[in-house]
Amino acid sequence: VLIRAEQPGDEAAVADLVTAAFGDRGEVAALVVALRPLARGGGASLVAEDAGGVVGHTMLTRSVLDAPPRLVDVLVLSPLAVRPDRQGEGIGGTLVRRTLEEATRLGSPAVFLEGSPVYYGRFGFVAGGEHGFRKPSLRIPDAGFQVALLPAYERWMTGTLVYAHEFWDADAVGLREPGG
Ligand SMILES: CC(C)(COP(=O)(O)OP(=O)(O)OC[C@H]1O[C@@H](n2cnc3c(N)ncnc32)[C@H](O)[C@@H]1OP(=O)(O)O)[C@@H](O)C(=O)NCCC(=O)NCCS
Repeated sequence: VLIRAEQPGDEAAVADLVTAAFGDRGEVAALVVALRPLARGGGASLVAEDAGGVVGHTMLTRSVLDAPPRLVDVLVLSPLAVRPDRQGEGIGGTLVRRTLEEATRLGSPAVFLEGSPVYYGRFGFVAGGEHGFRKPSLRIPDAGFQVALLPAYERWMTGTLVYAHEFWDADAVGLREPGG
């Protein structure tokens, strides 16, 4: 598969793919729409494509780390989706690795995400708490709050991750108890 930047015209294919991957009612596709301007301004929106069309997608968007001396721009990897009939072929892994390369190129000190440590550990992600980071919500399990440190990282960069408001507007942070 080819990994490339999302282009105008890809939006509908990305929305279909994301909804198929998450099996939801379009909530994550709506998050993608909300995040798109942020991804274009200092982040990234990458698609994986083969002859059959768009089979994978992920985004990098700017959030901030509330470090003791000042706020630090960092990147959040979310969401990540691979078409259900193409999962398990390494497409998700290729997207994650390319995303880390892109974040490094952008000069970001760190990439944060919420996800399975088993899946993301293989790409160099560790629990954020190990480096003194605090999660943006108590509803994120400690092990699921993960970070990959990049070359621009410096040791004073500790503190709380503050998500861009788009994640809060979509109520896409952490896990919510049903019936709340
Ligand atoms: C998670 C996802 C992006 C992985 O993409 P993929 O192309 O299937 O991943 P890869 O082929 O690179 O890796 C497959 C491996 O990941 C594992 N894996 C997939 N989802 C996992 C999860 N939620 N937890 C733990 N491991 C997982 C598979 O078991 C497989 O393991 P193996 O390599 O030991 O056999 C894809 O399964 C997906 O779109 N899922 C639905 C949406 C989602 O949950 N996104 C992530 C949260 S934002």
